[in-house]
Amino acid sequence: MTAERIDGKSIAADLRDKIAVEAKKLIDETKIVPGIAVVIVGEDPASKVYVASKGKAAKECNFHSVQHTLPEDTPEADLLVLIEKLNTDDAIHGILVQLPLPNHINESKVLNLIRPDKDVDGFHPINVGLLTAGERDKALVPCTPAGSLILAKRVLGNLSGKNAVVIGRSNIVGKPMAALLLAESCTVTIAHSRTKDLPEVVRGADIVVAAVGRPQMVKGDWIKEGACVIDVGINRIDAPERGEGKTRLVGDVDYDSAVERAGSITPVPGGVGPMTIALLMANTLTAARRAAG
Ligand code: GUN
Repeated sequence: MTAERIDGKSIAADLRDKIAVEAKKLIDETKIVPGIAVVIVGEDPASKVYVASKGKAAKECNFHSVQHTLPEDTPEADLLVLIEKLNTDDAIHGILVQLPLPNHINESKVLNLIRPDKDVDGFHPINVGLLTAGERDKALVPCTPAGSLILAKRVLGNLSGKNAVVIGRSNIVGKPMAALLLAESCTVTIAHSRTKDLPEVVRGADIVVAAVGRPQMVKGDWIKEGACVIDVGINRIDAPERGEGKTRLVGDVDYDSAVERAGSITPVPGGVGPMTIALLMANTLTAARRAAG
């Protein structure tokens, strides 16, 4: 079997188009312009690329968008003051602090200060609690898992009763992904670095979500025939075949072997990545609508 390639890039573009139309409607009806503030501390090159694409998507969606770029040595207290200012700024409905933060800044202190109704990353304990308590409709849900779920549902339809294996237990992806799949009535396994016989665990999965940050770790012979494979990983590896010093992006799944076994699979790049940004826009629109009442 050769898997269907799940075109996250085009699904995300369609979603952004719909959000732009909805945002225009909200603006016409209420004069409220969805506003997003993205905060970046330091010079991490990958973070800068992500933040630039978020700003571009926001403009395309007719949003008001501001970016705060702070130097690497910004004191934690200064960042907290900025968050408090954004919390009370009526033009801002979504606040995103790009991770990772420099080591001298306490990440949870920063994330917990963001007003839950502006927490478009869905990382605040209130939003985590609402999602795990089965109240997704009241929460803001983390963007990467929410986008991954849309892709899985696009190819499989109803997920009820499917065996899902999530590889990775991060707060950003693994844990919220498991909560979302559970809410879809999947039988969910969270696998991680201490899991015994990971290949065998993955072989039982109708849906595999790989979110470990290890290039090409999941091999084709781990994949059940016909499974849906969602690859969240974005890893840069050397690509000497492209010339000296060249690199390329790969996922956590060994695409070339997995594509021979899976029923459907997301490519890297062009799979989950664009969905994450589209879902950030969706969360910002949701926050702005809720603020409009
Ligand atoms: N860094 C990597 N992924 C994410 C994400 O989803 N949100 C934020 N804020 N930072 C990230």
